[in-house]
Amino acid sequence: MNTQNFNLSKYLKDKENIIEAYLNNILLHFDQQRELVKAMRHSLMAGGKRLRPILAIAAAEAVGGNFRLALPVACAIEMIHTYSLIHDDLPAIDNDDLRRGVPTCHKAFSEATAILAGDALLTHAFKIVSKPEQIKLKLNQDKFAKSEQPIFEIFPDKLVLLDLVNLISDAAGVDGMVEGQMMDMAGVSFINNALPYSNNLNLQSEVDSPFQSGSFKSDISLKMDYLKRLHHLKTGRMIIASVQAGAISVGVMPNYNLNATEQFVIEQCGNITNKFGAETFNLLTLYAENIGLAFQVTDDILNVEGDPSIMGKAAGSDKLNDKLTFPTLLGLEESKKFAAKLVDGAIESLNMLPLDFQERTLPLKAIAQYILNRNK
Ligand code: IPE
Ligand code: IPE
Ligand code: MG
Ligand code: MG
Repeated sequence: MNTQNFNLSKYLKDKENIIEAYLNNILLHFDQQRELVKAMRHSLMAGGKRLRPILAIAAAEAVGGNFRLALPVACAIEMIHTYSLIHDDLPAIDNDDLRRGVPTCHKAFSEATAILAGDALLTHAFKIVSKPEQIKLKLNQDKFAKSEQPIFEIFPDKLVLLDLVNLISDAAGVDGMVEGQMMDMAGVSFINNALPYSNNLNLQSEVDSPFQSGSFKSDISLKMDYLKRLHHLKTGRMIIASVQAGAISVGVMPNYNLNATEQFVIEQCGNITNKFGAETFNLLTLYAENIGLAFQVTDDILNVEGDPSIMGKAAGSDKLNDKLTFPTLLGLEESKKFAAKLVDGAIESLNMLPLDFQERTLPLKAIAQYILNRNK
């Protein structure tokens, strides 16, 4: 079986339905008449692609785990992602009017409410991950078939929950997405040849200092390094964390090296679920690093040639805001080739997993292809 025979649209739809219902259920724990809750709902339930939670679920399934274990953290990540979009759209950052096909949160509500709705989504995400058992089925929702109701009765081990809190706070925070947003804003002046925002550039291995005159690195190559780092932080970290969180939720242990006996037992019994360690984790991480960057390259491409009515957000804004992007540095065609190469790399890393993983990794592989060909 290869990815061509895999029905990705059905897979995405099925998982999306479960995620939508779970997120809705989280919101139903609050009084729906509250302004804050209305604003949270406005952005969270506006129909994003749900790529990050779907990746978490697909990663859990790729290692043979029960995806329901990954649902709380998958939805928490979607809540953090939505908060980041609400804040990203604010006048002080990108000043956008349209998001997920509806007015941005600060347009539909007040700017202050949008800031607070973002804060609330971010904070509540950590409540969900740390105590998923507090999320009970509130209403008999259509989208929850009877068979899906055990969703609320199955949770990862407490120690795993702690690891997940650590993972997502690291990916979203000071050395993750938020720093990426800082670099993104500073990149505007960088392309105009002003000094780049220098903190934590992390280019020292390649050049002594990005400010040095007469550096052997060309201007383009310096900007490329800046752009890759920016996107690794801004977009990549949360996408990588999604895949890792899915795997960790079902018992993959990043620092766990199987000893020879365990290896033997697994091989003999064929009972491999929840018995994977560092090697599996690293290959899944490599996959995620590649699709994370590819996702942002295609995002830049869509900002040039995408259709706003399909994307549900504005196109052409990067040029308007003088943003440093892959198409401005490489041109459209080279950017497309670069994205394709990254997706090949992602699929290649999954091919390196043991043979009996291969069928289970089909969703992850198909998602990598989808990232390349997406139109929204
Ligand atoms: C948009 O993310 C912001 C980026 C990180 C590029 P998505 O394209 O995943 O947005 P939604 O969740 O589908 O709205
Ligand atoms: C948004 O990035 C990324 C985050 C909120 C972390 P962009 O500003 O590039 O994406 P869009 O175009 O608004 O979705
Ligand atoms: Mg932005
Ligand atoms: Mg933006």
